[in-house]
Amino acid sequence: MLVQPLEARWQEVLDSVLRSMRGSGLTTRDVARLAPKVEELSRAYNTAQAEGRRTKLPLEARIAFSFPRDVPKGAGAVRELVASGVLTIPPDRPLRVLDLGAGLGAMTWGLVRALAAAGASGRIEALLVDEDEEVLASAAAIGRAARAAFGTEPIDLSFITQVESLGRAMKSEGAKSDGWTGGRHDVVILGQVLSEIDPRSDPATRLESQAALVRHALDTMVAADGALVIVEPALRERTRHLHALRDRLLEGGAVSVFAPCLHSASCPMLAIETEWCHEDLPVDLPPWTVPLARAAGLRWQGLTFSYLVLRKSGVEPRADAGGERVRFRAVSDLLRSKGKVELFICREDGARQRIRRLDRDAAAEQGVPFEELRRGDIVTLSSPPDVSAGGQPAGGDASAARGPAAPIDERGRVQAKAHVAIDVAAARK
Ligand SMILES: C[S@@+](CC[C@H](N)C(=O)[O-])C[C@H]1O[C@@H](n2cnc3c(N)ncnc32)[C@H](O)[C@@H]1O
Repeated sequence: MLVQPLEARWQEVLDSVLRSMRGSGLTTRDVARLAPKVEELSRAYNTAQAEGRRTKLPLEARIAFSFPRDVPKGAGAVRELVASGVLTIPPDRPLRVLDLGAGLGAMTWGLVRALAAAGASGRIEALLVDEDEEVLASAAAIGRAARAAFGTEPIDLSFITQVESLGRAMKSEGAKSDGWTGGRHDVVILGQVLSEIDPRSDPATRLESQAALVRHALDTMVAADGALVIVEPALRERTRHLHALRDRLLEGGAVSVFAPCLHSASCPMLAIETEWCHEDLPVDLPPWTVPLARAAGLRWQGLTFSYLVLRKSGVEPRADAGGERVRFRAVSDLLRSKGKVELFICREDGARQRIRRLDRDAAAEQGVPFEELRRGDIVTLSSPPDVSAGGQPAGGDASAARGPAAPIDERGRVQAKAHVAIDVAAARK
């Protein structure tokens, strides 16, 4: 399990950072005093009023609540990079991470924890960039407290922080951002920061300037075999903006999408105004933050976010295997109704489709039970080898000559004996 809530021992780490803050005196246990600050924070993010340094958001609430809530999002966004072996810690040097708009470093910690959960060990050097000096000081304090509490095994994580505005650094062609360029970073992360950049400018201009920013980061900061990871809130408009950004970057070429899409065709969600592709993993907040979430009127069940993983090269657009095999990502929860379960999928050939497995076919299914599929899983459905295009056992009759049938028919019905395999599981309780 690569995506896990922060363990109980983290509460003391965050409390020690909170206690060291001048004038605060709060800890994660001061629910009544912290809850209004958490509410204020949540309101600002939901109404797009958070704009970096310009909106001073309560730092105590970010440490006590946002940090534990967001670390697993970082792990969720890199889970396929880690599971596929694309992201590992090199044996002979540190893994280099550049966290842009890093805040408290939650995304970097998510990445570190996903690697540790996969059994990785070694050194990671993270450069945390943010325009807010105060939040970076707290990020460094969390790093020190965690190191003191947990040591450097299995992963020795060191932080450097740099106060800088992303927009300014991009415009001045890296005047102060020299340390970031040179294509030396294995992973560059933009965690929940695009939402805070120019939220009030017109959508087309914003799309262009953010595409330029991401392209600049990919071209100048990411190593040839590295990855750029974007995380955004799961809200519809923010996520659709991320889909549009993806399509815009792909139009420009020399970019490949590693996740969540299995294809480089335009995003099928954009064709339907009410749709957006987001994660909703069964990973709850740690129990020690639940009283705070409850008091602030926020949910603690599940982990929602959107993400996009880009690479310079590598994963080439894949054509759907067609015929007897369909590979897809589940982009909804299972929808149960009388006699069937349904699922929305985004296929390797770029099509979004609603598929259904009839209850009466359940007994014949092979591999993983269809009902165990979850939003975010990458799945391969295959036709059983003995089934012909007519859906009948191949036995030398005329229909067998037509070749294997698709595991999903043209009306979206999953064939009775289809084999279900989960290639990469999203997350499980
Ligand atoms: C919502 S927080 C996210 C922090 C962290 N990346 C995470 O996902 O948990 C956004 C951070 O981006 C920073 N930020 C916003 N606009 C920025 C800009 N133009 N340049 C640098 N940092 C910026 C803010 O100061 C804030 O710390």
